[in-house]
Amino acid sequence: MRMRRRIFSRIVTVAAAGAGLATAAAAQPTLRVASPDGKNVVTVSVRQGTLWYSLDRQGKPLLLPSRLGFEFRGAPPLGDSVRIADSARTTVDETWTQPWGEVAHVRDQHNELRVTAEETTSRHRRFVVAFRAFDDGVAFRYELPEQPGLADFEIMDERTEFTFASNARAWWIPSNKPRLDRSEFLYAASPLSTLDSIQTPVTLELGDGHTAVVIHEADLVDYPRMFLAGHGMENNSLRAALAPMADGVKARGRTPFETPWRTIQVASSVKELAPSLLGLKLNPPSKIANTSWIKPMKYVGIWWGMHMNIWTWSSGPKHGATTENAKRYIDFAAKNGFGGVLVEGWNVGWDGDWVANRNAFSFTKPYPDYDLPGVAAYAKQKGVKLIVHNETSGGLANYERQLDSAYTLYRSLGVDAIKTGYVTDTMGGNHSHYSQVAVRHHRKVIETAAKYGIMVDVHEPIHDTGERRTWPNMMSREGARGQEYNAWSSDGGNPPEHETILFFTRLLSGPMDFTPGIFDIQETRGAGRPKRLDEPRVRTTLAKQLALYVVLYSPVQMAADLIENYEGQPAFKFIKDVAVDWDTTRVIEGKIGDYVVVARRERNAQSWYVGAITDEEGRTFDVPLSFLTPGRKYVAEIYADGPGANWATNPLPVAISSKPVDSTSRLRMVLAPGGGQAVRIRPAQESSSTK
Ligand code: NOJ
Ligand code: CA
Repeated sequence: MRMRRRIFSRIVTVAAAGAGLATAAAAQPTLRVASPDGKNVVTVSVRQGTLWYSLDRQGKPLLLPSRLGFEFRGAPPLGDSVRIADSARTTVDETWTQPWGEVAHVRDQHNELRVTAEETTSRHRRFVVAFRAFDDGVAFRYELPEQPGLADFEIMDERTEFTFASNARAWWIPSNKPRLDRSEFLYAASPLSTLDSIQTPVTLELGDGHTAVVIHEADLVDYPRMFLAGHGMENNSLRAALAPMADGVKARGRTPFETPWRTIQVASSVKELAPSLLGLKLNPPSKIANTSWIKPMKYVGIWWGMHMNIWTWSSGPKHGATTENAKRYIDFAAKNGFGGVLVEGWNVGWDGDWVANRNAFSFTKPYPDYDLPGVAAYAKQKGVKLIVHNETSGGLANYERQLDSAYTLYRSLGVDAIKTGYVTDTMGGNHSHYSQVAVRHHRKVIETAAKYGIMVDVHEPIHDTGERRTWPNMMSREGARGQEYNAWSSDGGNPPEHETILFFTRLLSGPMDFTPGIFDIQETRGAGRPKRLDEPRVRTTLAKQLALYVVLYSPVQMAADLIENYEGQPAFKFIKDVAVDWDTTRVIEGKIGDYVVVARRERNAQSWYVGAITDEEGRTFDVPLSFLTPGRKYVAEIYADGPGANWATNPLPVAISSKPVDSTSRLRMVLAPGGGQAVRIRPAQESSSTK
């Protein structure tokens, strides 16, 4: 289905003249654009010389008039003293198939209104704001057209505001503390009116008890990342705040130029927030013609051993990335049907303070006890992908200098997947981790990797703004507190509610490489004894670790534990079976911070997987299986919290059972405190053996 209509309207001068209005201000039109279902309506107008937009939802104000515009270095602000000079409308309805994703098909149906604002002062600078109204939210972006009064520019601030009509409950992480430039924080819930400086996506539950709003951005290519700042005076307004470069400038550019989209996802219930596809709709179509080499996969790796302090990234007696270890992991992956093996700490540069010595990293030179070509050949022979790790510590120039030689080497060894990392507060000198410099770097890495036919998984990333539509080799990223915090975090690790919040916040921006699947919950093998609750430790039951494979979407999913911890574990079968690429996603139950139940159907197959997770409270769900194909017989393979299971005191019991089900069945899911449940529902005629 593909349909595009373009209707241009030149209303402004005509409307002003026709109405015979006396002043320029009074002559300004009020423009509106509505979503296809009519529920979301954006209004654009000029008031006292300033361009404003507002948003109504089902006839009620959601965003009050909110300011638009820019501040520059060396030039007056843009957005004061303007008039609407022109407008144009477009309607789009098109559907495409994602090469991989949480859904197979995405329908982009929206109405667009482009508004040209022009200064009424002597410079007559112009800017365009393109608004798009979708059924699941609205978005807008600025365009700075090529023009005599505006060529090279330095943006110091974006005046974009989001002024809510009423207070709301915000689920947020800070952008200004305790570490300047990370997204690895626990979420807090507080009134919108009290927010200071936060990251997006931020999820807001409105006072009506059901409407949910997510503010984020899409198609971030050559601009700083957007944060949001509260007004600090108890009002309900947030303002865009841009991550700075070392000299304080936010964005350098030259007209013609366009900013990323500012997105306002709106849903009638938090359950409707996922899957969140607005970001994909606002990115250009794939630039990779043949995507057949890009494959979702599960992987294991030489990773948790370092976080457990059993191995080191650096060279020495505890070095993890040895040829022998790598081959052992490859054997395990091949035997159990895993697609890949990640090896960290294989390359020269880890010795000493690897965060400070960022320029010491070589991305081609292995440590002497790691035979890179030999390991790569072994992986190839076993049908497993070697995932090569590139920690940069924010040494952007050092990495960029080596991109071509490194990727050439990897491809010559048959390697087509890498994991990158950016452990550092600042990037490439003193630029913010999320500055325009860093955003450009990320694009360069994604595009260079695409050129070489390499898939990318990024840790400490720029947040996801939907680039996987344009560059489907951009697979997954971290960008939140993942499993690693359960190894060493001084606050003890992620609390049981953490993943129930991630689902409704971070995961709405895109896939997350959370690295689930720790079976040694009390980290006995690392500590030499079960860890106490005042120590960093996994704070879930084992069944909940399984459920995370369904709940926290990622096209690359790690079985993160040491491979020996999976030996003799019947529950490991679920990790072997679970899909990583989905046709359909349905949120069945959900409350932010409390619980999530999700069902997903495997891509190009008839099996469904259900994942249910809860916070520290035990809960029971009664799930209708009406999503199954009517008349077809299925078998549900159930991995439930076992008798007496409890994340704190008794995390390990898993009760595994199976029973026949069909679309008229209901599944009673009993979750322990801090627990979960994972269910594979396969067509009855298919065998129960793992793929
Ligand atoms: C932090 C990353 O999140 C983690 O996955 C990686 O193991 C370490 N940095 C080392 O690069
Ligand atoms: Ca990290």
